[in-house]
Amino acid sequence: MNKVYLCQLSKIGFKIVSAMDKNQELLNRREASKLGGGKVRIDKQHSQGKLNARERITLLLDEGTFQEIGMFVEHRSTYFGLEKTIFPGDGVVTGYGTIHGRLVYVFSQDFTVLGGSLSETHAQKICTVMDLAMKNGAPMIGLNDSGGARIQEGVVSLAGYADIFYRNTRASGVIPQISVIMGPCAGGAVYSPALTDFVFMVEDTSYMFVTGPNVVKTVTHEEVTSEDLGGAKTHAEKSGVNHFTAGNDVECLKKVRDLITYMPQNVNQLAPELSTFEFNPAKLNNIKSILPANSNLPYDIRKVVDCVIDDNSFREVQEDYAKNIVVGFARLAGKTLGIVANQPASMAGVLDIEASRKSARFVRFCDSFNIPLLVFEDVPGFLPGTDQEWKGIITHGAKLLYAFCEATVPRITVITRKAYGGAFDVMNSKNIGADMNFAWPTAEIAVMGAKGAAEIIFKKEISEAADPAAKLLEKELEYAEKFANPYRAAERGIVDDVILPEETRNKLIAAFKMLENKAEVLPLKKHGNIPL
Ligand code: HXC
Repeated sequence: MNKVYLCQLSKIGFKIVSAMDKNQELLNRREASKLGGGKVRIDKQHSQGKLNARERITLLLDEGTFQEIGMFVEHRSTYFGLEKTIFPGDGVVTGYGTIHGRLVYVFSQDFTVLGGSLSETHAQKICTVMDLAMKNGAPMIGLNDSGGARIQEGVVSLAGYADIFYRNTRASGVIPQISVIMGPCAGGAVYSPALTDFVFMVEDTSYMFVTGPNVVKTVTHEEVTSEDLGGAKTHAEKSGVNHFTAGNDVECLKKVRDLITYMPQNVNQLAPELSTFEFNPAKLNNIKSILPANSNLPYDIRKVVDCVIDDNSFREVQEDYAKNIVVGFARLAGKTLGIVANQPASMAGVLDIEASRKSARFVRFCDSFNIPLLVFEDVPGFLPGTDQEWKGIITHGAKLLYAFCEATVPRITVITRKAYGGAFDVMNSKNIGADMNFAWPTAEIAVMGAKGAAEIIFKKEISEAADPAAKLLEKELEYAEKFANPYRAAERGIVDDVILPEETRNKLIAAFKMLENKAEVLPLKKHGNIPL
């Protein structure tokens, strides 16, 4: 600025601010924004065992990598005195940084500012980082701690939610999206997390529900606490909405950092491969003795998984929901896999509505993001009964069938024991597009169990026999001898090979390597019509 101009400005009363003062103003403004709703509210947050929005980001990202966007954004609302309650940043911290050196985008709601409630501008900030995440192909992580739509703003805050839902849906299958619930999440606000790929919840301090306990009491006359209605445990065990539970904020953010290492950045990339991995060779011996001698006795399929994959690499998803099926990420020779395994230790590993929904969604995540699928099969069939039929096991079971049929990633099945009926087809069989099916010598691959089969096909013979019980047993053994083995399937090429349990790891490493360049294109369409 020239001297004459400065002189003129001072004559008409302009205060000349030096560059140093301007810099100081910026630093002051930054400090104000970083303070959110102020020290008192931050202390309250801490006293409840919760970290604040910025502390959470610091723990989530690699040290010193966070770059903030929009820290001076303010709301424009003037209703109900809001014009006097303005906090720079407007209750959400947004930006980007890295996790283990890889780019991620993040938003973290600040409960100390108007309860982290979502205003028009708060929503715009979130949308800005979501748009960047989509354009640059990197995961989006949302840390939720909010009283929901900013009530004073009315419909514009609802529209803000809708903007987010729209982007969640458009981003689905393009970039991984993770929702971390670290406080209240109520009303329609729960639908953004529900549209994302994985939900984390913190025990005792987070809850999610469409309508809270008061509304529930008015409408249904039920008395229920927030925790029972929508706490981490409820959603982990009863609804399946919560995929991962953590004891506190610190543990939760650590888990998110870990999970991200199993995922690619976007639809066009592969998950990162570890250059080193460990495998305890003693597991090759242990795997031989997991299955009980009696094929009707239970065992924990997670032991089989553990004996095959790299040491300590299994990350189970939804471990407390639909325990009759186990799903999760693992590594085999350093590469990410999605594991789907029937669990004989829970309800004999039967497929029911919950198990089908849980595994179908997991299969679709893996297929969306180029993560090969490894299935361990020990399934006696679908769960019979009026409860299941009336609730639609036909449609829900078809979800898993559809998910496997549509998946184009490398997919391999290992049949450890039972593979009966329709469930055999559904569990990634060759005829629905699996690349390889292996069976252990203990495999039983048939339309149904030997007793049930004998009762139907030898009904007349049994009823006319002098000793029907002895006849039934004789026919049961006859059927079992014919079908309770893997060789009928192997003769037809329905399984590719029969392998010893201790050969499984090496067979799988070789087969997945062989499938590394698999390229399969689905018929051209707008999108399929999955049985939702
Ligand atoms: C504006 C809000 C707010 C909201 C909380 N606050 N929720 N301000 N809009 N939705 C403010 C409070 O007024 C208070 O301000 C501060 O945040 C902290 O709230 P407290 O109530 O003191 O905290 P706490 O006791 O911990 O209770 C937290 C809470 C409660 C359970 C979340 O605040 C609450 O019930 N809020 C309303 C929840 C709700 O019904 N939201 C609308 C959902 S409908 P001061 O200044 O006193 O510190 C919805 C529609 C979305 O979200 C639809 C999308 C399709």
